[in-house]
Amino acid sequence: MWMMWAAVSAAEPVEPPVTARVEMREHEADALAAVRAFVADDLRGIRRSGRRLARPDPTRGLPPAVLPLLESIRRIGDLLSETSQARDAAGPLASLAGTCGACHAITGVTAVAHPAQTSLERSFLAVALRDESLWRDAPDEPATSSWPLRERALRQRLERLP
Ligand code: HEC
Repeated sequence: MWMMWAAVSAAEPVEPPVTARVEMREHEADALAAVRAFVADDLRGIRRSGRRLARPDPTRGLPPAVLPLLESIRRIGDLLSETSQARDAAGPLASLAGTCGACHAITGVTAVAHPAQTSLERSFLAVALRDESLWRDAPDEPATSSWPLRERALRQRLERLP
């Protein structure tokens, strides 16, 4: 039995295939970790999450047309991993949410977000997942109607943090 398993796994590719779904779960966790690190003024945490977002995963199952958006996520990850002051991460974090949201809009994904702990996290995930109900849930957001304007509102909100 063991021999059979060894024979099968020897034929498998070295990198286990990562489905879009698995990569997305990680993206969501890493993006939220970056937002939390930002709120906590934790530069090392922001950099760590950035490094994770920048990793090139061998993702399967995404249409080639949206791969540049995945590249953008990795570039923003690089930027976050090199941030020299926590406050500088406000812009990249808002762009991160906007880029996630752009791809979900193109691919027609209506993903369910994991429970966000704060109103800021809900706003971030609303933009990232283009989720109207999450956005409405964010109490002190201006009543803007388009996602690009909401991304800007998110950015301003991040920049206003002490
Ligand atoms: C290149 C396109 C693309 C980008 C960029 C992208 N996503 Fe996704 N996302 C998808 C697709 C496609 C799915 C559906 C995957 C599936 O169900 O197989 C998905 C699904 C999800 C899901 C649901 C996963 C599940 O378990 O059903 C979450 C959460 C998510 N994305 C979060 C994010 C976050 C956060 C970002 C940005 C950091 C992001 N995504 C960036 C394309 C993208």
